[in-house]
Amino acid sequence: MKVEIEEILFDQRIIEQKVMELGARISRDYDGGEIVLVSILKGAITFTADLMRCITLPVELDFVRAASYGLGTVSGGILVMKDIETEIKGRDVLLVDCIIDSGETLDCLLKRYQERRPKSLKTAVLLDKKPRRRFEVRLDYVGFEIPDRFVVGYGMDCAEQYRNLPYIASVKSLK
Ligand code: IMP
Ligand code: MG
Repeated sequence: MKVEIEEILFDQRIIEQKVMELGARISRDYDGGEIVLVSILKGAITFTADLMRCITLPVELDFVRAASYGLGTVSGGILVMKDIETEIKGRDVLLVDCIIDSGETLDCLLKRYQERRPKSLKTAVLLDKKPRRRFEVRLDYVGFEIPDRFVVGYGMDCAEQYRNLPYIASVKSLK
């Protein structure tokens, strides 16, 4: 499917402001503590890189790469292609993703990491595509709510393209 940029929804300045706000809130909430940031590859890399620089506490960084099983699977679920290497037992863990859609990815990862007995396990997402939610996921830090539109940029892709855009835009398909 060929697509082109339709409309810029969040420009660099707006994103930067929001990420600073979230970083400040996180720093206050975990005051005196230390956070393990678990960034969900690939889309969350830009948000994670910016967010961690707005957190004024010691941070450890790790990555998980997860993808849905794809169409045709009855059970659904996600496949973890690369897991974190950090021992999270007894630690404050913050799962970071750029966007939540159905909620399946975060739901699966929250269950997976809860089993490892962290001290706390929270979520931070830049974008919440609320109308599409199918799994109930507790979101602790949210940047913006968006309608049901496909977006790219700031780490997010359409067929692996557009991740490098510094802004977030919606796309439209070309006939
Ligand atoms: P969920 O598991 O349905 O919540 O989907 C979350 C994942 O789907 C995100 O980590 C993204 O990789 C991808 N995704 C969902 N919506 C969009 C979008 O509008 N643009 C780009 N990627 C998206
Ligand atoms: Mg993608």
